[in-house]
Amino acid sequence: MPNRPTVFLTGPLPPECMQRLADSTNFQVNSLGRDLTKSELIEAVRQVDALICFLTDKVDADVLSANPNLKVVANYAVGFNNIDVATATERKIAVTNTPDVLTDTTADMACALIFSVARRVVEGDRLVRSRRWNGWAPLQLLGTDIMGATIGIIGTGRIGRAVAERAKAFRMNVVYWNRTRLDPETESKLGIRYCELGELLGESDFVSLHLAYSNETHHLINAARLSQMKPSAYLINTARGAVVDEKALVKALTQKTIAGAGLDVFEHEPALEPELYEMDNVVITPHLGSATTATRTMMGDMVIENCLVACAGNRPPNLVNT
Ligand code: DGY
Repeated sequence: MPNRPTVFLTGPLPPECMQRLADSTNFQVNSLGRDLTKSELIEAVRQVDALICFLTDKVDADVLSANPNLKVVANYAVGFNNIDVATATERKIAVTNTPDVLTDTTADMACALIFSVARRVVEGDRLVRSRRWNGWAPLQLLGTDIMGATIGIIGTGRIGRAVAERAKAFRMNVVYWNRTRLDPETESKLGIRYCELGELLGESDFVSLHLAYSNETHHLINAARLSQMKPSAYLINTARGAVVDEKALVKALTQKTIAGAGLDVFEHEPALEPELYEMDNVVITPHLGSATTATRTMMGDMVIENCLVACAGNRPPNLVNT
């Protein structure tokens, strides 16, 4: 049908979104069940107005240069470190993301990891399934209380703040570090206290990461910073894997200079530092931060809206180019 934008999707979206795409665009979708290689991605964008892609797709200068008529790259994620936004901007290609709709869902995931690792939920599950559980015992799988513990939130954007609100409801003490300190009104509304990073690491029982990944945040949590954490503290990461030096983390966990970790993201997904698979004090999940049916559907609606608006020559609602 004429005037419909042509769209390439690097993988299927929830069914309602596929229907909306069918109703409003001429689209093609990667149905190989794996990520496209770089040359496949280049080939795919050659003929389309819009690319809908995932955080697993590296949309670099070569991809962006493959089609002079490409209008928009709509990332199905709030993070967009997989896209070379500077080159896209030079080439007048809009880049969009999916903020807000996944904030609560991702904050819930951070809390799920906090509870799982502190209350040894996964270890308990494994014990029961092993059929070696002999019944209640006073010293069995003792964990750490959440109530009264201090959580250090690193990064107080939307998701960090949503975690702070939840932490307050669990009656935790909340300290935070952010590149830019929040205004006093927001601090007092959230009931949270600003700390320098080293102070936060030294005080917190749980350190939860909520930063975008960039050159500045690469390995922000390195060996030196891990060594500032308490031996009883847990590291929680639902942001991006490479914010943490994963080898240094393994060392800290092995040497028990920290108590454990709850990790939803990894430095080289889907590969992990091999020792992590074996550690009982680590809960590992496969990048599930935004993974609920409702949220993934809302994210799909957003990427489609961004594509349609950009292809019509207008400013898409979630433009990230500066
Ligand atoms: C995001 O949107 O950046 C999340 O990591 C996806 O789950």
